[in-house]
Order: sequence, then structure tokens, then C-alpha cells
Amino acid sequence: MNRFHIRTAHWPQDADATRALRRQVFVIEQGIDPALEWTNDDDQFRSVLALDVAGHPIGTGRIKVETGTATIGRMAVLHPNRSRGVGGAILSRLIEIGKAEGANKFELSAQVAAINFYQRHGFEAFGDVYLDAGIEHRKMIRTEKRGQAIQPSARPSANRNKTKQA
Ligand SMILES: CC(C)(COP(=O)(O)OP(=O)(O)OC[C@H]1O[C@@H](n2cnc3c(N)ncnc32)[C@H](O)[C@@H]1OP(=O)(O)O)[C@@H](O)C(=O)NCCC(=O)NCCS
Repeated sequence: MNRFHIRTAHWPQDADATRALRRQVFVIEQGIDPALEWTNDDDQFRSVLALDVAGHPIGTGRIKVETGTATIGRMAVLHPNRSRGVGGAILSRLIEIGKAEGANKFELSAQVAAINFYQRHGFEAFGDVYLDAGIEHRKMIRTEKRGQAIQPSARPSANRNKTKQA
């Protein structure tokens, strides 16, 4: 049933496939202004692609690690492929990549509708709801050190800017 696999995306070779996924999910489905979507900073991130059995891209996400803190963003799975564990597998792979690069703290800016998805993967929501690209978001954090409270400083720095969403 859940037949897909996750692989590392290579930049710029996978740029078109990755951007097509984001365009479908964020611009067409969610109505986000394309000017807010294309930030030209993908070369600073590690990205992954989920592919179906035919090799078609069905999902993506990205991560950047800076001094032990990883920022995850641009999580997107094509609508017909949701609720099959694809998003969870993408998130797990990104966390693996982050850990391999020394991250012990993972941050993201979650659309409020997706908070329970991230909670299932060990993230906790902090702070107030804020609008980003017209969509309600909350900051979420996962730390690898159990029992140690970590206070978020501000919104995740490497997600979209004040006018953009995760
Ligand atoms: C968030 C997203 C990447 C999850 O991908 P997925 O392949 O469906 O994830 P999984 O199958 O691993 O997990 C699905 C679970 O996540 C939760 N979930 C995810 N997005 C949700 C949403 N918008 N509303 C309600 N629940 C949601 C549900 O609990 C769902 O479980 P269910 O199918 O039993 O109801 C996908 O829904 C998506 O692309 N959404 C649109 C873009 C988006 O919101 N990206 C996140 C920005 S922070």
C-alpha cells in the first residue's frame, strides 16, 4: 500500500521537480503568492524527495543545520498521496540528516492545521499563533535531550521571512 521511497534531492538537478511540488501544494492548493514561495535559498538547504513506484515526485521537504539547531521547512506532499505516511517518512529522513550534521534541536514554523502531524514526530508547539503568508502558524521545536526545557527565542530563522510561510 505505502509504496514510495525517499531520496536526497540534488541541487540544481532536482530543482524543477521540487519547485513543481511546492507550486502545486503551496501556490495552487493553498493560494500562496508565488513571489513569497521562491526564495532562491535552496542551495543552503539539504532537500529530500519522495517518489512513487513509477518514480514520480510526490513529496518534498528541506533542512538546514546551523550550530546544532536545524530548521525544517517546505514540507509538502501532493494531495492524493497524503495520509499514507509519506510526510512522516520525509520528516524522519530530514531529522536523520540533521542529526548526522550535528543537530540536537529541530525547529519549524508549522501551519496550525499540521500541528498534530508534527506532534506525532516529537515536536512541541510554543508561543502565539501568527500569520505567515496569510496562514496561521505556530513555532514548533523538537529537542533530542529529554526532560530539558528549551525556550524558543524567536521564529525559526531559516523559514520564510515575515511575509512567508514554512
Ligand atoms: C503536512 C503534510 C506534509 C503531511 O503529509 P502526509 O503524507 O499526509 O503525512 P502522514 O501521512 O505521515 O501523516 C498524516 C497525518 O498528519 C496529520 N495532518 C497533516 N496535515 C494535516 C492537515 N492539514 N489537517 C489535519 N491533519 C493533518 C493528520 O493527523 C494525518 O493523519 P490522518 O491521515 O490519520 O488524518 C501534508 O498534509 C501536506 O503537504 N499538507 C499541505 C502543505 C502543508 O501544510 N505543509 C506543512 C507546512 S508547516
